[in-house]
Amino acid sequence: MSLSVRQRRILADMGIPVWRSRIAPAVSDVAAAAPLAEHEAAASATDDTRASIALLDWDALQAQVRTCTACTELARERTQTVFGVGDRGARWLFVGEAPGAEEDRRGEPFVGRAGQLLDNMLAALGLDRTRDVFIANVLKCRPPGNRDPKPEEARACRSFLDRQIDLIQPEVIVALGRIAAQGLLESGEPLGRLRGSEHRYQGVPLIATYHPAYLLRKPGDKARAWQDLQRARACLRT
Ligand code: URA
Repeated sequence: MSLSVRQRRILADMGIPVWRSRIAPAVSDVAAAAPLAEHEAAASATDDTRASIALLDWDALQAQVRTCTACTELARERTQTVFGVGDRGARWLFVGEAPGAEEDRRGEPFVGRAGQLLDNMLAALGLDRTRDVFIANVLKCRPPGNRDPKPEEARACRSFLDRQIDLIQPEVIVALGRIAAQGLLESGEPLGRLRGSEHRYQGVPLIATYHPAYLLRKPGDKARAWQDLQRARACLRT
């Protein structure tokens, strides 16, 4: 890949040396990973609801997300749902954890400081959030106080993300952070073990990497995140 001056500057800002490597992906046995403990699915959608969500088109899906109250507590406290943003035919899908306060206020994922870093990481790849990628979260509603999503909340919201994936048909999914990676892969493995190999979700290659908010606290790991993004890029169909 040839890098523009801007991309080189962003990479330098991120503390990432510019090198060219193609990392051969190793497919891990996701099915063998330890599943998360089963919890009561008090808030989960019924099988009928799941089946009907799987048939929705983009507009109907967005409308259903807007009025969904399956995650009762979050729905009560949210300002609005955060559906996702970007190109509905994108090759790349980035999946975070859940909206934060700023995202809840603006109705768009990753618009706070972590979002600025994500935008820089995208720019380093030559990508733009409005054109080349779709960005979504495991949860469409903000957990109060930015607490971790509960398993039943993630389950209640899962059909929406699954339908987005069906509609987008991305070539690669990048799971941002432990919660997204563990949630999508139904794994209890730490992020450090989920990184570094290619997984599959709904038949789509999935690469796990650090959450941008973590990278703001631990900038020393940006170079590792860049390696993950290179691995994700290698998953794209030529
Ligand atoms: N963190 C996330 O995981 N998602 C957002 O949309 C914002 C911050």
